[in-house]
Amino acid sequence: MSLVLGLETSCDETSAAVVDAGRRVLSSIVASQVAVHSLYGGVVPELASRRHLEALLPVVDQALRQARVAAVDLDAVAVTVGPGLAGALVVGLAAASALAMAWDRPLVPVNHLEAHVYAGFLGPNGADAPPLVALVVSGGHTSLAELTSHVSFRLLGETRDDAAGEAFDKVARHLGLGYPGGPIIDKLAAEGDPEAVPFPRPLLDTGALDFSFSGLKTAVLYYARDAARRGGALNLPDVAASFQAAVVDVLVEKAFQAVERTGVRRLAVVGGVAANRGLRRTLTARAEAEGLDLVLPGPEFCTDNAAMVAGLGHFLLEAGAAGDGEPLRACPSLALGGGRRKRGRGRGEAAGPARAERA
Ligand code: KG4
Ligand code: ZN
Repeated sequence: MSLVLGLETSCDETSAAVVDAGRRVLSSIVASQVAVHSLYGGVVPELASRRHLEALLPVVDQALRQARVAAVDLDAVAVTVGPGLAGALVVGLAAASALAMAWDRPLVPVNHLEAHVYAGFLGPNGADAPPLVALVVSGGHTSLAELTSHVSFRLLGETRDDAAGEAFDKVARHLGLGYPGGPIIDKLAAEGDPEAVPFPRPLLDTGALDFSFSGLKTAVLYYARDAARRGGALNLPDVAASFQAAVVDVLVEKAFQAVERTGVRRLAVVGGVAANRGLRRTLTARAEAEGLDLVLPGPEFCTDNAAMVAGLGHFLLEAGAAGDGEPLRACPSLALGGGRRKRGRGRGEAAGPARAERA
């Protein structure tokens, strides 16, 4: 047994989990703040930090109890250091550092994006081992990477502007559908015709593994505006289904291009947008047709959770990458594979004055 307690507070979910040997999830507790932030149409950083502060220790307590594990049984504490909202990260880091010190256990710093990839190793249906190609699609990130060993990532492509989840959230906001937009559009799309509106598929045929979703988002907004000018009613399910189909086409095509280029025959699709039913359906069909090993974590491990943090924490611990006792610093703009991201948007933040404190 190698038991790691993971903590995750980078955005609007307060989460703690206990994972054995990087794979067996003994508990995974997620306290969502969606109800708080949906009033503002996005995450309000200050409110997020305050909620993390209130929720974190009870969530840790619950995770340990559900796993039937005592602090003395733990081998390490792993915590998200970035990317994410600065204030929210600091709450998790402070708590994890205090617990690791009090329990005299190593503290393992974890990159949130790399942790998303590790959701692909969790549970009985998780991947056995690297190599794999990972498509990380979340509220703040759209990245393609090759995982060459348990702790080495090679970035293959990234979004040049909006992330896939960001596009879902912005389109939903502009259509007056609420926050977070992904699950709402997912549901609406199920009742619509994906071929009703021929929205653009940005960068589909360029051969590059980069993404761009800002033009697609604008195309949807213009379509809605023009419909309003014409005085016609917007068929929301059709617009949702057509928008989602465009995003899915691009994500699936690029992911399979990455598989082709690397020669790695295993693809993991992870992050909040990987919970999308349309995306899961299309991926599953194409993987089957091409005989590709597809790793799709359960929806609860696609969106933010601490089990993926504990999972990667285990492999980092094995690789000797635990902290050296120096205080850990929050890294709001961390990229996949280390370094800084080209652009730093806080995930799902509210528009307007609340954005002032963004990471
Ligand atoms: O990974 P995640 O929980 O947090 C980040 O690291 O950003 O991803 C949140 C994002 C949001 O943009 C949300 O709208 C999107 O994932 N999302 C979805 C679905 N569920 C969550 N997008 C499309 N379809 C879904 N079912
Ligand atoms: Zn995330």
